[in-house]
Amino acid sequence: MNCALCFPPAVVSAVSASSDRVRAARFQSSPNKKSYVSSVQIEDREAKPMERAGGFLARRKYNPPSWASHLNPIPSDVYNLGHLPTPIHKWNLPNLPQGTEVWIKRDDLTGMQMGGNKVRKLEFLMADAIIHGADCVITVGGIQSNHCRATAVAARYLNLDCYLILRTSKALADKDPGLTGNLLVERLVGANVELVSKEEYAKIGSVVLADLLKERLVNEGRKPYVIPVGGSNSLGTWGYIETVREIEQQAETHFSGLHFDDIVVACGSGGTITGLALGSNLSSLKAQVHAFSVCDDPVYFYDYSQGLLDGLQAGVDSHDIANIQDAKGLGYAMSTAEELRFIKDIAAATGVVLDPVYTGKAAYNLLKDMDSNPAKWKGRKVLFMHTGGLLGLYDKVEQLASTVGNWRKMELHECIHS
Ligand SMILES: Cc1ncc(COP(=O)(O)O)c(C=O)c1O
Repeated sequence: MNCALCFPPAVVSAVSASSDRVRAARFQSSPNKKSYVSSVQIEDREAKPMERAGGFLARRKYNPPSWASHLNPIPSDVYNLGHLPTPIHKWNLPNLPQGTEVWIKRDDLTGMQMGGNKVRKLEFLMADAIIHGADCVITVGGIQSNHCRATAVAARYLNLDCYLILRTSKALADKDPGLTGNLLVERLVGANVELVSKEEYAKIGSVVLADLLKERLVNEGRKPYVIPVGGSNSLGTWGYIETVREIEQQAETHFSGLHFDDIVVACGSGGTITGLALGSNLSSLKAQVHAFSVCDDPVYFYDYSQGLLDGLQAGVDSHDIANIQDAKGLGYAMSTAEELRFIKDIAAATGVVLDPVYTGKAAYNLLKDMDSNPAKWKGRKVLFMHTGGLLGLYDKVEQLASTVGNWRKMELHECIHS
């Protein structure tokens, strides 16, 4: 069965292969002098994502890491939309197996309205939209889609209109969707929300729905660019290939060459795990990538990921580079009381707030696995990817209310009487 979130493996949406792969000489400054350096000298400098040429919201030419330069097609341009690199720090989770270290990469901190993993994919997808002369973007997702919210904000930043096809229950599909969580941001930035019922979505599919809207907009004289569900096509996958370069450099620069044995991440539409797994496999990282799928079974995601890999001519098998496990529990975006209690306990113990739909389920299942198979994780250094999604918590406030009781009326008697 196909994931309600996903659509069949996408052909990269007209990613223009970089015809200009020759690295031009660039201006380099040193404390005492400024000079042009040769293309060979700047190879390393260009490999540093920390140097986001042009600053926030700038578009720049993209040069892949050397270990990914055989992939095809390679995006020609990328936007600086995220606040990168995101921090990596030790995550002092309770009750870990002996000698196990868990670290966390804070992709929830990629930026305020756009925070989360989607920003990294949108850096490439938005560049492609602009290159293709788009004046608006269309994307698709669930009613609380983080991807749709990030796309709406990115589009507004880049002066594009945004059309969101949001899936909701049949009873709510012709009612005002309200302002909870991601919807608040989407509607504040002026995105056009088009509601469809889950039944319509299942029957028609995200690709055809987007095409229908595209046709309507073209007839109105617009130039729409379609971004697939979750931004997960082969072009979007570059966002997490690039993240591996960032992790490599952070481990080297800030943690004296710390080696991660494992990377753990939530999987919803497949792009994030594919980029991480491919990057980890090709680079010096060589960490095992464990994906916890929150909306469909692993078989679906191995296939979907394979489509993305083939779209990059990667020549690898998804089964060889990722370990995908089921973590959907009650179902997509549905939380058990235990999962929500877990989110509360982790927040109270570590200060890190997980989201209920993705990272909460991934971390919950990771710790459950560590608890039942301590030997498997003993002594390992694990990097957990916090992929964001915090606005999704607003959708769960009623369920969460019973877990947070720490308040009282402040006692002011003495102060009042003196
Ligand atoms: C917060 C969050 N984490 C993880 C994911 C999963 O990423 P992907 O869709 O690339 O599988 C998503 C989106 O689906 C998300 O919004």
